[in-house]
Amino acid sequence: MIDFSLSKEQKQLVESAREFSTGVIKPAALEADEKGEFPEKIMKKAHELGFLYTNIPKEYGGTGMNHIDHYIVTETLNYDCCAIGQMIGISHLGTGAIEIGGTEEQKKKFLGKMTESHRSACFCLTEPEAGSDAARMQTTAEKKGDNYIINGSKCYITNGQFADLLCLFVTTDPSKGNKGICCFAVPRDTPGISVGKIEDKMGQRALNVVELFFNDVEVSKEHLIGEEGKGFKLAMMALDRGRVNIAAVCTAISQKALDECIDRTQKRVQFGQPVSQFQAVHFMLADMHALIMASRAMYLQSGWMLDQHMPVNIEAAAAKFFSSDAAMKITTDAVQLHAGAGFMKGSVVEKLMRDAKLTQIYEGTNQINRIVSGLGLLRRDSRLF
Ligand code: CAA
Repeated sequence: MIDFSLSKEQKQLVESAREFSTGVIKPAALEADEKGEFPEKIMKKAHELGFLYTNIPKEYGGTGMNHIDHYIVTETLNYDCCAIGQMIGISHLGTGAIEIGGTEEQKKKFLGKMTESHRSACFCLTEPEAGSDAARMQTTAEKKGDNYIINGSKCYITNGQFADLLCLFVTTDPSKGNKGICCFAVPRDTPGISVGKIEDKMGQRALNVVELFFNDVEVSKEHLIGEEGKGFKLAMMALDRGRVNIAAVCTAISQKALDECIDRTQKRVQFGQPVSQFQAVHFMLADMHALIMASRAMYLQSGWMLDQHMPVNIEAAAAKFFSSDAAMKITTDAVQLHAGAGFMKGSVVEKLMRDAKLTQIYEGTNQINRIVSGLGLLRRDSRLF
C-alpha cells in the first residue's frame, strides 16, 4: 500500500514553515532581489525557530529531520523566494560530506559548533578551471607533520562570505585526479582564508555567492574527513542529497508560478471574459500542473530512498534535471500568461523565471546530471519499481 498523505507531524511542519515563508520571507523577497543582498536577520530568525539545521541530527544541535521531512520543509521555505530559502537550507549541502564521512568526534566538534550560530556552512568544491570536471581541482593540501597546509582558491561558493564552517575539497596530488582529493572541515576563523569577488547574479540574487582564497591555511589531521584520497566520493554523495534538495526547490518555484497564473488569468478580462476561460490557457495550466506533480513525486521518492539508505545517484540526478527543466519551462510560460505585466521588472513571475535559470546550472549542469543518470543506468540491472 502506498500512502501519499502527510502525517499529522508533517502537516504541522508544513504549516509552521508556510507561516515563516509568508510572514518573514515573502515581505523581504523583492527588496533582497533588487539589492542582491541576503537579509542576515532572516537567517537569525530561522535559527531561533529551528529551520536552519533541519537535516542535522539533534545530538549535534540540529532539528534531526529525516530526508523526506527536510525536503518537504525545503519546498515550503522556497515557495516565496528560493534565494532566501536556499540560504536557510545551505547547511544541507555544506555539511553533507561531514555527516557522511566524519567520525562521531568530528561531527560533535564541527557540526556542534556550527549549529550554535546562524551563519551555517558552505560547500567548497568548484574552482575556476574545475567546474563540471570537479576532479581537476588545483587547490592543494601539503602534509607537514601532523598538519596540512592549504593553498588555492574556490569560486561560486554559496554562503562563502558568511559561513562559519567550510567543507573544503582539495588535492594532495593533482596528478592523481579524483584519487588525490581530500575533504576537510575548516572553521572560518582559521588564519589565511579571505573572500574575493561577491558575485552579482541574473537570478537568485539574494543568494550569497563568492570567491574564496586560501593562503597557507594550516589545519591538523583532525580536520581531515574520511581518508586521504577519498574526498571525491564524499563530494559526490553530498551532491546526491543536494540534487534532491534542488528538485524540492524547483518544485517550489514551479508551484509558485502556477499559483500566480491561476490568480492572474481569473482576474484578467479580455474579449469580455476572464482569460482563464480560454482553452489555450487551460492547456498551459494543465501542462504546468502535470510537470509539478512529477517533480514533487521525484524528490519525494528520492528522499524516501535516502531514508532507506539506498543508492540514489541515478534518481537524484534525474530529479534534478527534470524538475529544473520543468521550472524553466513553467516560469517562462508564466511570464507568457502574464504577458506585458509579467515581463516588467518587479513582477513575481519575472523573478521566478530568472531564479529558475540557475537551477539548470548549479549542483552539476543538467547535461552533467544526464550523464550521471545515463551512465548509472548502463551499470545496473533493469527494474520496474
Ligand atoms: N556516490 C559514490 N561514489 C561516487 C558517486 C556517487 N554518487 N559518483 C561517483 N562516485 C565514485 C565513482 O564510483 C568512482 O569511484 P572509483 O574510481 O573507485 O571507481 C569515482 O567516484 C570517480 O567517479 P567518475 O569516474 O564518475 O568521476 P569523473 O571524474 O568522471 O566525474 C562527474 C564525475 C559526475 C562529472 C563529477 O565530476 C560531477 O558531478 N561534476 C559536477 C560537479 C558539480 O556538481 N558541481 C557543483 C558544485 S556545488 C554547487 O554548484 C552549488 C554551490 O553553491 C556550492
